[in-house]
Parts: sequence; C-alpha cells; structure tokens
Amino acid sequence: EPQIIRTIAELRAAIAAFRRAGADSGVGFVPTMGYLHEGHASLIRKSAADNGLTLLSIFVNPIQFGPNEDLDKYPRDEARDLKVAAASGASIVFLPSAAEMYPAKRVTTVTVNEVSDSLCGASRPGHFDGVATVVAKLFNIVQPDRAYFGMKDAQQVAVIARMVQDLNIPVEVVPCPILREEDGLALSSRNVYLDAKARSEASVLSRALSRTEEWIEEGATASELISRLSREIASSDIADIDYVDLLTYPELTRPEEGKPLAGLDADVLVAVAVRFGQTRLIDNKLLNPA
Ligand code: PAJ
Repeated sequence: EPQIIRTIAELRAAIAAFRRAGADSGVGFVPTMGYLHEGHASLIRKSAADNGLTLLSIFVNPIQFGPNEDLDKYPRDEARDLKVAAASGASIVFLPSAAEMYPAKRVTTVTVNEVSDSLCGASRPGHFDGVATVVAKLFNIVQPDRAYFGMKDAQQVAVIARMVQDLNIPVEVVPCPILREEDGLALSSRNVYLDAKARSEASVLSRALSRTEEWIEEGATASELISRLSREIASSDIADIDYVDLLTYPELTRPEEGKPLAGLDADVLVAVAVRFGQTRLIDNKLLNPA
C-alpha cells in the first residue's frame, strides 16, 4: 500500500528518509490531477520500473483552469485513485489541499514563452502559466530524478521540457506514449463527461489522425493536411473544432508553407482540439516526415 501524504513538510521528510537509506535507483515523479485511468497507470508503472521510489501527486491545480472552464466539476474519486496507485506501483501518493499548495497570495508565475503561444496555449489563455508554475513548485517540493508525462498533452511536454532546460532544473523529463480505448479514443479523465452519442463520435479524432501519414506520402503540404484533417473531423455533425494544426516538435514553430511535408527534415506534431457538446477533447500524432 502506498503511503498517503497531504503536507509538503511530511513529503520532504519521507523523500529525505528514502534518499538517506542510500538507494541509488532514484526518485520518479508522476504529477496528475487524479480521476486516474490506464494512461496515468502506464506512467506510474514506467516510473516504478525505472526508480526505487515512485511518487504520484494528485492535485486539481486551480490556476491552470480558465474562468469558464471545468475546475468545479472536474471529476474526483480519491478512493478509486488510491487503488489504481497501489496496483500500478506508486510508493507515495501526495494529495495536497489547495491551501497547502497556495497558502498565500502568489506573485510569482513561471511563463514559458513561444512554446505556450500556439494550440492549447492560444485557446486557453494562461493555462500553461498555471501548468508551468505548479510543476515548478512540485519539482522543487519533490526534487525527483525523473518525471513522467504523457504525449497525450504533447504541448505540455514541450513546455515542461523547455522550462527544465531554461531554468536548469535537475530532472529528466520522460515523455510516455498515448494510451487509447479500443476504438482509438485517447484515454482522458474528461471522457466521463461524454454522452453516448458524443462518446461514439469522438473516435473520429484518432481515425482522422491515423490517416495523416498516408496524406503526407501523397504529397500533402501543411495547409492541405490541416484542411483534409478538418474535413474528416467535420464529417461528425456534432464535432465543433477548436483547432486543427501542424507545427514542428518540440519547438512548435510553423513549418515553411507550400512545400510537401514529405521532404521536411523535422518532427512535426499534428494536434487537434474539438468540442463534443460541452466536452473539449484533445488528441495528436507526432510524425517524422523525412
Ligand atoms: P492530468 O490531465 O491528470 O494528466 C496527468 C498525466 O497523465 C499527464 O502527463 C498526461 O499527459 C498523462 N495522460 C493523460 N492521458 C493520457 C493517455 N491517454 N495516455 C498517456 N498519458 C496520459 O496533465 C495534467 O494532469 C496536469 O496538467 C499536471 C501536469 C498534473 C499539472 O497540473
């Protein structure tokens, strides 16, 4: 059974005790907002395989939600999360309160410019400031050797990796593959919001993304690929597109327009955000055209 810790002081003491015991296999860290699914579990298992101690944090971080977003109704199930944590190999589960993480007025914010400007950063103003700030705090609290992030949130991985590089934070950021349902829908805590119709239509995202390599082989340019993807997604009459975009990865810059992607000597990220009713889903595919 993992140890459950709710305060920063107790967490620091537990990690110090582990480090004093002389284990040199390292501290692995998996930050989450809970309502754990198999995607989260895969990160915990990877950390447990790589490290002597795996720390899972569960904290619904208020500062990464916009005023009209789902902070208040974000799904929570602490008892079930603790079972998933135990079954996946977490050694410690850190469950801080909002008051523990943000005890007083905060005047310091971590902003990762440029990589935060596009995609979800453009449609959710301030979101990545909230993510970078809480992850920087958690990195300082935990001081992990390795931290595990899912490529489901590819831009988040790029933002955190850049923050770590720019601020010389001594942690190895480990990107992990996207876990999916049988029909291709990327696992997400927010999938519980989908009604039956939306749930069945939502598989259009992964289906559309899975055709991108074929379109690139046929000679598509960036804008052609974006319009083909958009058309494919719009074939669902309830899909309301927030963005469909294609950028280099991890820089998240726009590739030169008008050239077939097949010749491009860079990794490219094809990323989509689409509303099904009230629920906004994201998905992406990382491609290496050359
Ligand atoms: P959350 O959405 O709970 O996700 C926690 C981690 O699980 C992230 O690294 C995310 O990319 C990963 N994850 C989610 N769905 C996945 C899937 N289908 N396959 C693989 N990995 C998946 O991301 C956050 O929380 C927060 O922004 C956080 C980093 C904790 C900061 O508050």
